[in-house]
Amino acid sequence: MMSKFVYVGMSADLVHPGHLNILKEAQKHGEVIVGLLTDAAIASYKRIPHMEFEQRKEVVESIKWVSKVVPQATLDYVPNLREIKPDFVVHGDDWKEGVQRETRQRVIDALAEWGGELIELPYTKGISSTQLNIALREIGTTPDLRLKSLRRMLQVKPLLRFLDIHNALSGLIIENTRIQTLNGVREFDGMWGSSLTDSTAKGKPDIEAVDVSARMNTLNEVLEVTTKPIIYDADTGGQTEHFQFTVRTLERLGISAAIIEDKTGLKKNSLFGTDVSQTQDSVENFCCKIQAGKKAQATDHFMIIARIESLILDKGMDDAFLRAQAYLEAGADGIMIHSRKKDPAEIFEFCRRYNTIPKRKPLVVVPSSYNTVREEELQRHGVNIVIYANQLLRSAYPAMVETAKSILMQQRSKECDSRMLLIKDILELIPGTK
Ligand code: SPV
Ligand code: MG
Repeated sequence: MMSKFVYVGMSADLVHPGHLNILKEAQKHGEVIVGLLTDAAIASYKRIPHMEFEQRKEVVESIKWVSKVVPQATLDYVPNLREIKPDFVVHGDDWKEGVQRETRQRVIDALAEWGGELIELPYTKGISSTQLNIALREIGTTPDLRLKSLRRMLQVKPLLRFLDIHNALSGLIIENTRIQTLNGVREFDGMWGSSLTDSTAKGKPDIEAVDVSARMNTLNEVLEVTTKPIIYDADTGGQTEHFQFTVRTLERLGISAAIIEDKTGLKKNSLFGTDVSQTQDSVENFCCKIQAGKKAQATDHFMIIARIESLILDKGMDDAFLRAQAYLEAGADGIMIHSRKKDPAEIFEFCRRYNTIPKRKPLVVVPSSYNTVREEELQRHGVNIVIYANQLLRSAYPAMVETAKSILMQQRSKECDSRMLLIKDILELIPGTK
């Protein structure tokens, strides 16, 4: 008798008895082929997996009921099913609701094309990947894993979303805020160690007046309570010799990348543009700084991203493009292009030219002024990382000023009570407060 084929799709990031139960049942119906979701397929609807594809494959291949492991490149099973035409698909019955509902229906429709059958097994109670993921997040991460996670994400996600940190609480908001959408869970991929919001939170101007040690203190606060990758705003990087020490420190902490901007002398915030005097560094000098930073790295994973200020300083598109080429040539791991225009036209023009560079590296943008642009549009233009650079602090400040004014006005706090976190909720906000 010809053997029957059973297809089981899974991520197998944290293998638990629920998975084993499915595979054990599956092999009773024939030879089991596991469609192992690729990192990109998993990242399309939730966080990137803890283990890389090859590691997960090794684990699943060694389970005795599995005959073969093939990659499943999309959340949708249909492309693999049409190729393999299995007699059965086996899945837990927990996908009848939620994001996977449509996926399930497509499986049923595809199987009907060749008379295949869907077998659904009762969900194994008491253990789930979601619970394990929460537990893992509580344990935390290591500097090494966190550092590498940015490069991994860039490989598997078309566009990453970062938001500003200026203290541990802002980090916790980025770590934990997520919404459910039709396409899965949406959350921030990581944190931006903004010089503007870090300086502002310390009551200092954004002119590199907050020294590197103080900036590292903020990072340490955040690192202690989060697991997501951090991109550090290193301003100009300071003196080249000093920048080399900063790179080492950042790497040791598990920061994934530093962005340095091509300005020199007393740095002012870019969004002032030409209203203040700001000097752009020469291409040669800045390339030397990039090279020195790259040389200082102890690992291959840390990224140094070069930020081009040509559009901010009205030096023109040609200058911006020329610098992008030179900085990549010097070893930069990516380019950040900044603009203070209200609309994204010049950013898009830069993207078009940037995309013609052979082996172009990741492109970063910061849409603070051209804030009508949506992520999907940025992605279409080839942007790889979007940084919301200051929105958390900018939203907190007016709320706090309003409260302060209300107390002054009313000489009590009742009137502002409804706008505030309940006392009960702030007591429960941070685990362990009780
Ligand atoms: C920051 O957030 O500190 C930045 C971005 O560098 S910007 O403020 O737009 O210069
Ligand atoms: Mg800055």
